Amino acid sequence: MTEPTGSPFEQSAPPPGCPAHAGGVRLGGLEYQQTPAQLYRSLRREHGAVAPVLLDGDVPAWLVLGYSEVSYVTGHDELFARDSRRWNQWDRIPADWPLMPFVGYQPSVLFTEGEEHRRRAGVITEALEGVDQFELARDSGRIADRLIAAFAGSGQAELMSAYAHALPMRAAVQMCGMPETGTDTQQLVDDLRISLDAAEGDDPVAAYTRVGERIQLLVKEKRERPGADVTSRMLLHPAGLTDEEIVQDLISIIAAAQQPTANWICNTLRLMLTDERFALNVSGGRLSVGEALNEVLWLDTPTQNFIGRWAVRDTQLGGRQIRAGDCLVLGLAAANTDPQIWPDAHVGPENSAHLSFSHGEHRCPYPAPLLADVIARTAVETLLERLPDLVLAVEPEELTWRPSIWMRGLMSLPVRFTPVTH
Ligand code: HEM
Repeated sequence: MTEPTGSPFEQSAPPPGCPAHAGGVRLGGLEYQQTPAQLYRSLRREHGAVAPVLLDGDVPAWLVLGYSEVSYVTGHDELFARDSRRWNQWDRIPADWPLMPFVGYQPSVLFTEGEEHRRRAGVITEALEGVDQFELARDSGRIADRLIAAFAGSGQAELMSAYAHALPMRAAVQMCGMPETGTDTQQLVDDLRISLDAAEGDDPVAAYTRVGERIQLLVKEKRERPGADVTSRMLLHPAGLTDEEIVQDLISIIAAAQQPTANWICNTLRLMLTDERFALNVSGGRLSVGEALNEVLWLDTPTQNFIGRWAVRDTQLGGRQIRAGDCLVLGLAAANTDPQIWPDAHVGPENSAHLSFSHGEHRCPYPAPLLADVIARTAVETLLERLPDLVLAVEPEELTWRPSIWMRGLMSLPVRFTPVTH
């Protein structure tokens, strides 16, 4: 599990305090996918709250595993900032580096800092605050019904593609002012899926270009005819964002909403379908969907690790010497299960002080977590209501997690049920 580095960087004797020098752990390999809780425990035991790690291509970084350390890093954006151009490793990063979509600088809210970030995030917050949660629940329910109707008659489904991924994408696109149905919306949804999560044979770059073009068109249409949607509220906001800024931030909103919400839905369904505490028993009593959603955020959070923050200047963290320009990966899943906050080894999901939505200036902007909760809750409840005898079509141990340390979700979630025809 913990490999010695043996990396070319180590051989070239980097300065003391550099993550590579400290003997980085390669973030890769099957064990990371299947039992992350054990992995984080052993990393913490061997390296403490801040572990030296090697990203793809043996690029050194720090993985912040402690609850208080993640809170500290995210709470001090003057020390640990978001603009990836600060990175002291760019000369080692090839253009086709697999993590480029997450670290490659874009002029969006994600990479802005200080006053400029407050301006951009403020517009997003106010635009999202305008979303009526009852309407969102109703729209999400309608999207859920339409997706369920497509497979309800067959008595079986693969819920990741047919439901969990499709639903939040459609809800987010609609929230931004695209019509609920139609080929145009379908094309955007398909292109977003390809650009965020390309399958073999897909062309993510071409899809991403089409997403940009369609969002540009949406912004143009809403400039001419504003409506009751996120895009129009961003356009009308007194901060006066340019159209280009709004296009960038809309893409960030949709992308930031889609993957984590989809995996939140899927991980919650998996929990409810595999854990008897959630099974409907003879007395009809079972733990609620809300409890399952919250437990997933503590124990199986979608955004396991988030890249990241970049040190503004030399500093110390968790006993480590951090150099200006070092990259820090936020170990959100590890922080949630930190024994420092759960000393008796029990992780009690009864409150919501987890770090799954991060913390500080760049946290998932209020009220996005509430909207995600509405979408995820509606998705799970509607499915269980429409298909009440839904069960897994495979043994629980046959479910496979995606090979990613960044996003925790299943490869597929096959289910069966009594066919329903209307
Ligand atoms: C309606 C659904 C959602 C929307 C619209 C949304 C929107 C956003 C946006 C715009 C950001 C960028 C914030 C910034 O850099 O200032 C963000 C960040 C983030 N979101 Fe969300 N999000 C949604 C759902 C979720 C869910 C379900 C999760 C996880 C359970 C999540 C976890 C995060 C995390 C970890 C970050 C990174 C924060 C950081 O850099 O510290 N989001 N989200």
